[in-house]
Amino acid sequence: MSSMNDLREKVAVITGGADGIGLALARRAAAGGMKLVLADINEEALALVVRDFQAQGVATIGEPVDVSKFSDITRLADAAWNAFGAVHLLANNAGIGLAKSAWETTPAEWERMLGVNLYGVIHGVREFVPRMLAGGEQGWILNTASAAGLLTGPALAAYNVGKFGVVAFSECLHHDLRLRGAKIGVSVLCPAWVRTKIADAGRSSAAEFAAADPVTRQTMAAIQQAVAGGIPPEEVAETSFAAIGRGEFYILTHQRTHLGVRQRMDDILSNRPPTLLPII
Ligand SMILES: NC(=O)c1ccc[n+]([C@@H]2O[C@H](COP(=O)([O-])OP(=O)(O)OC[C@H]3O[C@@H](n4cnc5c(N)ncnc54)[C@H](O)[C@@H]3O)[C@@H](O)[C@H]2O)c1
Repeated sequence: MSSMNDLREKVAVITGGADGIGLALARRAAAGGMKLVLADINEEALALVVRDFQAQGVATIGEPVDVSKFSDITRLADAAWNAFGAVHLLANNAGIGLAKSAWETTPAEWERMLGVNLYGVIHGVREFVPRMLAGGEQGWILNTASAAGLLTGPALAAYNVGKFGVVAFSECLHHDLRLRGAKIGVSVLCPAWVRTKIADAGRSSAAEFAAADPVTRQTMAAIQQAVAGGIPPEEVAETSFAAIGRGEFYILTHQRTHLGVRQRMDDILSNRPPTLLPII
């Protein structure tokens, strides 16, 4: 199994790089000597972050993209290769949240959630991996799933389906690359709660919150509280780069997730319905 230890002068592409976990990954990559290609749908935040890195002497470009649009990802890859001539680390990290029951989630919400959280990752791999393979250098794909890619909860159908998809897709990608002896490794990042703005970005309006049924409302409040009390994104970035350095596939940042996975497997193998795990 390959790994990626020496980051110096290598090129990292990070989606959702203007904030939260993506920005922490970018800072950690820059600290290791990498050049940065940052992609985000929030153009204003992206421009500020790019200017900041450049001011610190980090070779950085920014590309405004919506990861759910394949043509945006093609433009991102073109920009990366035009600027730096290679890509070594692709972090498919952009993602959004939504708390709604399985039946209340609208077709448009399903499309948006899966478009960003699942297709964003699929598009990244489809566009970047062939070019990385053709470049012949050692590389790494880091897909941000979530503990919600391994464990289910109430009011999370669209989020869970997308993140379970990212875990399954990453496992398939790993098999496909290994069988070909490719010099590209894969990791899937599965954090539980991290202190970012994700619960703000996906936050429903006050009116929507009031209209939600009591179970959804309770879940929304618990998620916001859990995110606010989560681990700092810098810790996730540190753990991720350490795991990539060791060539590890699954990156779990919270011990609680291990317990949940064990419970889930026990439920399946004991023919029990899924245990409702506490949110925090
Ligand atoms: N915060 C948590 O508790 C947590 C836990 C597990 C997994 N995650 C996952 O981590 C990833 C990063 O989330 P975060 O917590 O840092 O959130 P965040 O909201 O702080 O940052 C996400 C970034 O992605 C950008 N973005 C959103 N939609 C986009 C799109 N369509 N195209 C391009 N960029 C887009 C946002 O503008 C933002 O800068 C997501 O995939 C999320 O699902 C977060």
